[in-house]
Amino acid sequence: MVRLSTIISSFAALAFAVAAPTPYDPLGEYSIEAGNIKATFLPYGATLKNLYVKDRWGQARDIALGYDDPTLYVAPTTHTPRFNTQIGRYADRLAYASFTLDGVTYNTTVNGHSKVDPNINVTFHGGIGFDYRNFSIVSQAQDSIVFHYFSPDGEAGFPGDVDFYVSHHVEAPATWSVKMWATFSQRTPFMPTTHLYLQLNAFNESEPSVLNHTLYIKSDQYQGVDANFFSTDQIITIPKGALQDFSTPKLLGDGFNVDMCGVNCTGYDALFVYEPYRKNEAVLSTWSDASGIRLDVTTDRIGTALYTCGELTPDSAPKKAAHGSGYYEPNSCIFFEQQSYVDAIHWQGELPDDTIFSPSKPFYSESTYTFSTL
Ligand SMILES: *[C@@H]1O[C@H](CO)[C@@H](O)[C@H](O)[C@H]1NC(C)=O
Ligand SMILES: *[C@@H]1O[C@H](CO)[C@@H](O)[C@H](O)[C@H]1NC(C)=O
Ligand SMILES: *[C@@H]1O[C@H](CO)[C@@H](O)[C@H](O)[C@H]1NC(C)=O
Ligand SMILES: *[C@@H]1O[C@H](CO)[C@@H](O)[C@H](O)[C@H]1NC(C)=O
Ligand SMILES: *[C@@H]1O[C@H](CO)[C@@H](O)[C@H](O)[C@H]1NC(C)=O
Ligand SMILES: *[C@@H]1O[C@H](CO)[C@@H](O)[C@H](O)[C@H]1NC(C)=O
Repeated sequence: MVRLSTIISSFAALAFAVAAPTPYDPLGEYSIEAGNIKATFLPYGATLKNLYVKDRWGQARDIALGYDDPTLYVAPTTHTPRFNTQIGRYADRLAYASFTLDGVTYNTTVNGHSKVDPNINVTFHGGIGFDYRNFSIVSQAQDSIVFHYFSPDGEAGFPGDVDFYVSHHVEAPATWSVKMWATFSQRTPFMPTTHLYLQLNAFNESEPSVLNHTLYIKSDQYQGVDANFFSTDQIITIPKGALQDFSTPKLLGDGFNVDMCGVNCTGYDALFVYEPYRKNEAVLSTWSDASGIRLDVTTDRIGTALYTCGELTPDSAPKKAAHGSGYYEPNSCIFFEQQSYVDAIHWQGELPDDTIFSPSKPFYSESTYTFSTL
């Protein structure tokens, strides 16, 4: 196990090795590739714009949802979805758009509401978060790119400076690894994540539905929600064989008929808690028989958000040309975020205190996404 301090200092050395910031265009496309994988990023939101992997016939497909026109990523802060962006400072719903830390109450930027009561405020994905910021590029090679963003004290209402880096690296045959690290000027909540929207058939018309994706999650627990769909400290055990039980691989469609995505909806918007972490073990896998593309995920995070894209409203997000014409349809993709408990900041002392960082407690995380064919 490499020590955190070693990792942080070597990344810092990497950053300082670059004499002056590379000139870059926030909406320019920066690609990395190795073996059978190629990824394209925009500095705006450190966004993954394209993710090309090979299907079982050796044809490259772009399995990431998104926009061909990069200006569409630059959107009003209430706009959803935020396809494949870098999320920060704090993933998912922060209930009531406020929290208390060390006796001080902070009001954070309001950019959403309870799914039930529109009068109840929410800070979603850190308010005007990292996904709306222009990152700088601190280093780039054929197979890797490192982005940096400095978030000043008070940004979106959060206390303290956050000096944040995310590195993307690809290696043959087809593994994408994401490392994030950050240092802080004072105690503050922090939960960055990758906001990953995928369709393993890349909307090839021969197999449009995501319900035929097989899904495995090494989890027998999910986080409970209250009447406002705000996450609680309740960790619910999933009975073996229940619709929500993906601990044995099964079709998403065979576990889809649940309302875990809000109120009166079908599908998922839920945090599954992984069984204890073991390095290099896949805790999440999904594959499609139609394209033959398989994804295996490893992570040091405690769980994954599973979202089945129920809120892709029919006329809001125009498809990439490679995905056909028209708009992305509801329930047409599968979404993951490697992260901690949703709204953990409201459950200090009840849930593990793993989203509060400080000058003496830097943040580090790593996740890998390995693609193969069936
Ligand atoms: C700030 O947060 C507190 C606690 O949730 C709330 O009572 C108050 O209305 C909020 N203020 C604003 C301006 O949103
Ligand atoms: C909700 O946020 C708005 C600002 O967007 C504020 O005016 C209002 O007081 C907040 N409501 C509550 C209940 O805090
Ligand atoms: C970030 O880049 C976009 C696209 O070029 C631009 O519209 C925006 O003003 C930039 N934001 C900041 C804060 O510089
Ligand atoms: C769908 O996938 C098959 C198999 O790779 C390919 O032959 C076909 O051209 C694809 N169709 C489109 C529209 O991309
Ligand atoms: C799933 O695949 C099966 C077998 O190929 C097919 O009959 C079925 O229509 C597909 N279901 C959906 C929802 O696409
Ligand atoms: C959910 O559906 C029930 C039954 O149709 C309805 O009474 C209730 O108002 C709905 N709730 C919301 C928030 O739409």
